[in-house]
Amino acid sequence: MDHKYIADLPDLVGEEVTLHGWMYNKRSSGKIWFLILRDGTGYCQCVVAKGNVSDEIFVIEPELTQESSISVTGLCKKDDRSVGGYELEVSSLEVHQIADDYPISKKDHGTAFLMDNRHLWLRSKRQNAILRIRHEILRACRDYLDDNGFIQVDTPIFTANACEGTTTLFETEYFGRSAYLTQSGQLYNEAAAMSVGKTYCFGPTFRAEKSKTRRHLTEFWMLEPEMAYCDLEEDMIWAEGLLISVVERILDRCGDLLEILERDISKLSNVKGPFPRISYTEAVDILHKNGEEFEWGDDFGGGHETVISDQFDRPVIVHRFPSAIKAFYMKRAPEDDKVVLGMDILAPEGYGEIVGGSQREEDPAILLERMEEEGLNTKDFQWYLDLRKYGSVPHSGFGLGLERLVSWICGLSHIRETIPFPRTLTRLEP
Ligand code: 4AD
Ligand code: MG
Repeated sequence: MDHKYIADLPDLVGEEVTLHGWMYNKRSSGKIWFLILRDGTGYCQCVVAKGNVSDEIFVIEPELTQESSISVTGLCKKDDRSVGGYELEVSSLEVHQIADDYPISKKDHGTAFLMDNRHLWLRSKRQNAILRIRHEILRACRDYLDDNGFIQVDTPIFTANACEGTTTLFETEYFGRSAYLTQSGQLYNEAAAMSVGKTYCFGPTFRAEKSKTRRHLTEFWMLEPEMAYCDLEEDMIWAEGLLISVVERILDRCGDLLEILERDISKLSNVKGPFPRISYTEAVDILHKNGEEFEWGDDFGGGHETVISDQFDRPVIVHRFPSAIKAFYMKRAPEDDKVVLGMDILAPEGYGEIVGGSQREEDPAILLERMEEEGLNTKDFQWYLDLRKYGSVPHSGFGLGLERLVSWICGLSHIRETIPFPRTLTRLEP
């Protein structure tokens, strides 16, 4: 393919190159004018000198507005003073479309305005960096799992049953009956693990979260590994290994992008194993020692998670939560059936829970009892109970919230910037 990008310029010095992109900025000084082109891979200064281009092209400068689409041809030169370190000495320029009054200027805009213009805001240097890091994070996740023998098995989005409690279900009409948008692929993953051994799914998941926080979306993407013949301890090792390898990859490949986001990289270089492991009960002690009012049995709020994670310089794994606050499918701890073999991984720096996982209950009788306690319609779960009837084995898995992970790695103050088109309580557009 002949299409060259700004990122390719280091290999093109001394050659005539055509770049395709959008005008980011320009300035003029009489016999010469400069434009900064962006093409998604970077920014490049293009120098338009009278005499080097036709007169028609030279006089086009006043018409060119921010975000006008253009192709620029010229000689590629190395120039350390230029943005990106390379420059194009323009010989010709083609205008595809003149952008009329691009609404996002270089001055500061409020968040609501930027969110209303999210479809355009994505073009900014900062959003471009986040999109690229998100992509690399996902690629690192897939590489880790694929290299370790996991098989991706896709799970449905329309479902007949709840996985993570009935209060956050999105209900939709389905040919005369009700369907729910999936909250998690886990239950189906458990079936897949009994076929392929180690599996994962990755897809959008939906929760009717009625709270407005900087950590919650109503539509988010979750990566969910599930392993047959795996207990909680091994589950933790998989989750820890995954996070370490993702952070390593991002530090290795995305340094320039993290710099655009002004991310303090020293905080990420601490992310090495082993992660500390503490029980819920120990976490409650930490809260008490730090003057928090908290009763054993309650669920942690965002503030509590921050106090706990502030004690550590790397992610911390909290395990053995009270069964009453966790999902029906989590296995009770053999030593104490008031707690379950579940775990959450809390990110440092106040980013909260990024992973939730557990060993699954493999005994059909206990599972039935737990479902009834939760008021779930067990008829809808017959297929799930079958997994305990035909070759039931200890198995475990976890869910990693991609946006929470992106938020932490990028050091963002709000989850809305981690996903191209966020869906929240108050936002369905654009
Ligand atoms: O802890 P959760 O609810 O766990 C499950 O859904 C399990 N079925 C996963 C499994 O074991 N296969 O969610 C898992 C992760 C959380 O740790 C968090 O990172 C993310 O999903 N998450 C959200 N991210 C953004 N917005 C929300 N509303 C989220 N709810 C959960
Ligand atoms: Mg959770």
